[in-house]
Amino acid sequence: MDAPVTASPHLPQTLTGQVVHQPTADAEWWRTAVIYQVYPRSFGDADGDGIGDLPGVTERLEHLARLGVDAVWLSPFYRSPQKDAGYDVADYRDVDPLFGTLADADALIARAHELGLRVVVDLVPNHTSDQHAWFRQALADGPGSAARARYMFREGAGEYGEEPPNNWQSVFGGSAWTRVSERPDAPGSSWERDGQWYLHLFDSSQPDLNWDHPEVHEEFCSILRFWLDRGVDGFRVDVAHGLVKAAGLPDWAGHVRMVEGTDVEEGLAAAEDEVLAPDASDDVETGRSPMFDQDGVHEIYREWRAVLDEYDGDRILVAEAWVEPLERLALYVRPDEMHQAFNFNFLVTRWSPAELRESITGSYAANDAVGAPTTWVLSNHDVVRHASRLGLAETGKGPNGIGAEDTQPDAELGLRRARAASLLMLGLAGSAYVYQGEELGLPEHTTLDDSLRQDPAWWRTGHAEKGRDGCRVPLPWRSDAPGLGFSPTGRTWLPQPESWAALAPDVQEQQEDSTLSLYRRALALRAEHRLGAGAMDLVTAGEDVVAVRNTGEERPAVVVMANLGTEPVALPEGHEVLVASGPLAGGALPTDTTVWLRAQA
Ligand code: GLC
Repeated sequence: MDAPVTASPHLPQTLTGQVVHQPTADAEWWRTAVIYQVYPRSFGDADGDGIGDLPGVTERLEHLARLGVDAVWLSPFYRSPQKDAGYDVADYRDVDPLFGTLADADALIARAHELGLRVVVDLVPNHTSDQHAWFRQALADGPGSAARARYMFREGAGEYGEEPPNNWQSVFGGSAWTRVSERPDAPGSSWERDGQWYLHLFDSSQPDLNWDHPEVHEEFCSILRFWLDRGVDGFRVDVAHGLVKAAGLPDWAGHVRMVEGTDVEEGLAAAEDEVLAPDASDDVETGRSPMFDQDGVHEIYREWRAVLDEYDGDRILVAEAWVEPLERLALYVRPDEMHQAFNFNFLVTRWSPAELRESITGSYAANDAVGAPTTWVLSNHDVVRHASRLGLAETGKGPNGIGAEDTQPDAELGLRRARAASLLMLGLAGSAYVYQGEELGLPEHTTLDDSLRQDPAWWRTGHAEKGRDGCRVPLPWRSDAPGLGFSPTGRTWLPQPESWAALAPDVQEQQEDSTLSLYRRALALRAEHRLGAGAMDLVTAGEDVVAVRNTGEERPAVVVMANLGTEPVALPEGHEVLVASGPLAGGALPTDTTVWLRAQA
């Protein structure tokens, strides 16, 4: 039965719009690229131990070439004790045996290039692992040593130094300081009675580096060269806003959250109550935290940009920076710094037409002002997958993980909205990021057994936060194979939800209306019409509709319309449907559905 179609006084047949973005004339690949995030431990397993590896990625690269993406970004595969799933690096120039060898990395890069895919690797410069040679030496050499100067060691507060040097909290919960003598490896060691503390904005196994130290600069320039020489096309820079801390490490009682960043309001309130060091006055005014988004970080990226510019082939730096507002984020992508920054503003925007319009408009304004492409992202390895997030009563950033006893997302609603959100995102000019499995419409694993959780946030918050394991579950590849084809032995380091069998690519490939088919079609159209390089108008189409027109030279305009209202809206006349995220009933765009339209010649 066809739903009633809203008469649409607000949907003029001649769509009028307001220009929100004019592309630059530059045509470098990264300005328009769709970049697919591979989370190596969960993409594909070749050796059968149940943990994904680099040969497992190489074997499956054809899936990505067929999907139609331009590049792959790989989360860390370096030597690491895996306390934070590889974001704790012990050796930046080697591959962890869990994932393979350097030769496997070379083979992956070569195969990707053969298939026309660029390769971006992860760089983790804010902290090392506590198993890194530099930190082992810092522990052994003791207070005042040259080795300690590369990290953030301090004396404690209180009469006996028994209090942490300041009140900073770890992003994963608990204090951001650990006393050397309280480390689990202290008993019986030479640092058994060592009263100094070291800073770790994340887990205690991830000591922060001291970016005032010239050797730290030299080391990271050398690491960049190591991977550039091996042929990588760029780096995704982890916690890019964190490297420099405010001088004097002033107290700060605000809360820093992953992806979302500093809560500025909360920071302002906290600052009012506090006596801050004189050089923290800027933070008092802005509510910005003294550990993040300090102006000093930009010098580092200028230094790195110069290194990349020595190489041919348009290599890139991508900032993972949880920075607000968008104008501050845009500073990271000025012409002599990084090339792109993840647009977390878009990711955390609620499923609200007005807020989405504002995010789109604001993102273009901020990035266009510095000549950088706007990026779009809906999911990654740190947030609840958008097919589940958008099925929660409260959309937006979502909780840090969902457990069996929590209110469960509405799976059908979530998938419907996720498909609509993805199709909206892929119709926008700029560069887009796709997180592995979102092209299958995978939901979060929301009923994982607590005993299986590995995210340090789960432990460090005293189990208050479930953490990120639910978005990191091994991918399904074949519906009828053990472990859904993830591994030749059927082993998977986390169990897959039963519902995933029906979502395996071998099933979805046969279905014209599957999420996989939708992504393939959208990516092919995006490439054909060069939508990434388009100019954008925000089109007036009523309160409940997010509508943009993507125009380019020598091609008809493509109108992207998402209906977030409760009633279907009529489609404008004289347009041909290119692709839709769900069935269109009787010439109308149903609730939570996106369509791409082309003006009929
Ligand atoms: C980044 C990564 C996240 C990691 C954190 C610490 O936010 O995306 O997974 O836990 O940095 O390195």
